[in-house]
Amino acid sequence: MTSIQFPTRIGTPLADNALKVMLLGSGELGKEVIIAFQRLGVEVIAVDRYPNAPGHQVAHRFYVIDMTNPQALKALIAQEKPHIVVPEIEAIATPALKELEALGTVRVVPTANATWLTMNREGIRRLAAEELKLSCSRYAFADDFDTLKRAVEKGIEGHKPVGYPCIIKPVMSSSGKGQSKVDHASELEAAWDYAGSAGRVNSGRVIVESVVEFEYEITLLTVRARNPKNDAIETSYCEPVGHIQVSGDYVESWQPQAMSTKALDEAKHMADRVTTALGGTGLFGVEMFVKGDQVWFSEVSPRPHDTGMVTMITQWQNEFELHARAILGLPVDTSLKTPGASAVIYGGIEKVGIAFEGVAEALAEPGTDVRLFGKPESFLKRRMGVALARAENVEQARAKAKRVAGKVKPVA
Ligand SMILES: Nc1ncnc2c1ncn2[C@@H]1O[C@H](COP(=O)(O)OP(=O)(O)OP(=O)(O)O)[C@@H](O)[C@H]1O
Ligand SMILES: [Mg+2]
Repeated sequence: MTSIQFPTRIGTPLADNALKVMLLGSGELGKEVIIAFQRLGVEVIAVDRYPNAPGHQVAHRFYVIDMTNPQALKALIAQEKPHIVVPEIEAIATPALKELEALGTVRVVPTANATWLTMNREGIRRLAAEELKLSCSRYAFADDFDTLKRAVEKGIEGHKPVGYPCIIKPVMSSSGKGQSKVDHASELEAAWDYAGSAGRVNSGRVIVESVVEFEYEITLLTVRARNPKNDAIETSYCEPVGHIQVSGDYVESWQPQAMSTKALDEAKHMADRVTTALGGTGLFGVEMFVKGDQVWFSEVSPRPHDTGMVTMITQWQNEFELHARAILGLPVDTSLKTPGASAVIYGGIEKVGIAFEGVAEALAEPGTDVRLFGKPESFLKRRMGVALARAENVEQARAKAKRVAGKVKPVA
């Protein structure tokens, strides 16, 4: 039995009995979650920090607020009275969500505590490594350069030195921001300065991790959903998604990533442990590094994952639909339809209101698709769309997805 209050009925959007969901963050991933809710007749309120964000364009109503401001967040929730709040990004005043959840004002997905723990690398790393004893890279936390240097070269708090090479990351950042690899002692200070200048919330605190020499990395999309037959929360897994990251940002992903049975079992076991500890229901993206039969836990998103966009072409229910269903207490099906791949389409230019050419040529290749996110402003390295491809095997799909991405041309 579960204590989560799932809706027993779905009302009519915009009527008094509407089931209302508020998305905090309305980027390309939020947009797809909103579309999944819309298809189930849910009323959706999209929130972001700038107007006309991708999710704003497909919601019933939209707002622009500073989501890191607890007063602004509480005021909007009081005004809109959503039944469920779905965070799509990490930069949110999560303590305010904890308060509202404790008061029973809203249900936060998957739980307010999970969003709080995962927005800070320290929260999730200590949970995974110290409480759950999952295998992770060596790591330490530091608030100043001297502590960082000692952690790397001598070891602090009774731990072994992290050593070189290592990776320095602000504790609060995403998409590789402020992150750098350090091979030699001479580069450490520059990495410390870089982390300080780019952290999302300028706490100055960093995590330093030893570099895991992995063969490949995966996202194991893991779903905690209710089985309506016995009301139990059950965990299920999508086929592993393999991906390539450049400067901490994903450029390509594919599914399924081939793994040894032992490594896959271990990955599922780790994903089960960490998502059970985080609790609630919904889809999680569990990031892991793999070498042979060995698996290291890296981090987890308590929400759909950018590398999981590939499921829009590979699965019967994509990661966004799985998230929406799990949130509503509906049954889920994580099975694979076909091997496939995704490749990111970057802005390539800096301009408001760009256009895309070559879409028809790109889609002339069978078994392909694209999503153009509709972001109002393009930057050189901003993710503006994604190419999707299905094929008999992952190799063919990857080549196809890259061809499609290459044919879509952002122009001024
Ligand atoms: N300890 C490590 N050993 C080896 N590679 C690492 C390590 N930490 C990070 N990386 C590489 O850097 C990428 C980004 O790291 P991480 O996921 O921690 O950052 P992030 O800013 O949260 O990125 P995102 O938000 O895109 O998930 C990883 O996917 C991996 O390729
Ligand atoms: Mg990551």
